[in-house]
Amino acid sequence: MHAAIAGAHGQVARLLTRTLAERGDRVTGLVRNPDHVADVTADGARAAVVDLESAGAQEVAEQLRGVDAVVFAAGAGPGSGAARKDTVDRAAAVLLADAAQRAGVRDYLLISSFGVDAVRDGAAPEGVDEVFVAYLRAKLAAEEELLARAAGPDGLRLTVLRPGGLTDDAPAGRVRLERSVERGSVPRADVAAVCAALLEHPAPPGGRVLELVGGQEAVPDAVARAVRAGRSGGPSGSVGATD
Ligand SMILES: NC(=O)c1ccc[n+]([C@@H]2O[C@H](COP(=O)([O-])OP(=O)(O)OC[C@H]3O[C@@H](n4cnc5c(N)ncnc54)[C@H](OP(=O)(O)O)[C@@H]3O)[C@@H](O)[C@H]2O)c1
Repeated sequence: MHAAIAGAHGQVARLLTRTLAERGDRVTGLVRNPDHVADVTADGARAAVVDLESAGAQEVAEQLRGVDAVVFAAGAGPGSGAARKDTVDRAAAVLLADAAQRAGVRDYLLISSFGVDAVRDGAAPEGVDEVFVAYLRAKLAAEEELLARAAGPDGLRLTVLRPGGLTDDAPAGRVRLERSVERGSVPRADVAAVCAALLEHPAPPGGRVLELVGGQEAVPDAVARAVRAGRSGGPSGSVGATD
């Protein structure tokens, strides 16, 4: 398979690129900074320089020729303000969907975030920093826009993955991957492993939403179970924006 990863110089993205390249998949890595091309190439990807806050859908689509699946792993990152949460975490994720649709790519894996339900319908959770609220709102808006495009048999085959707090710990290889989990953290390396495994299983019509934290189940088993539940419409599986 050939995956294109937006935000390819990000920490999860680089781990994912290496995992995919090692198993023989092709990867196109979209980066905005030309200085990052060498690292992403060394990870095993073909690097393409595209700034997802200024590019148009056609420019991005041109980098998706021959691609089977796109992964949104970009993020405005710590230290950025509310405005960039919107231009990256929401708008760039939607731009990637626009580009994927133009290029005829149906499989889309969105790395979203645990906690987005707390800001649904304009809610502002007490005691939460306003930039973090803006981040969660941007992630939720991206999810909602993409889930709308996953409706119907010809829609995007969308997987929304909502990891808990990311750590740089060594991979545990064990996770909890369910429609809904308790708050927790998860090593970036385990997020990358889950992404790699999910890419082998296109989402059902309507998309699937999965939350991810550290846990007890081996990654392949957790992914296989979540995929099965999604196919049968079970409680851990395929759900839409109104769920
Ligand atoms: N941190 C957490 O605890 C947490 C929890 C749940 C989910 N997440 C999400 O998980 C994902 C991966 O996180 P991570 O820590 O691996 O991310 P990261 O290391 O911060 O990487 C994000 C990447 O996005 C790139 N990017 C930013 N603006 C861009 C633009 N305009 N065009 C193209 N690329 C752009 C950055 O490039 P530059 O280096 O050029 O800025 C960077 O390489 C993110 O979506 C994040 O929001 C994070």
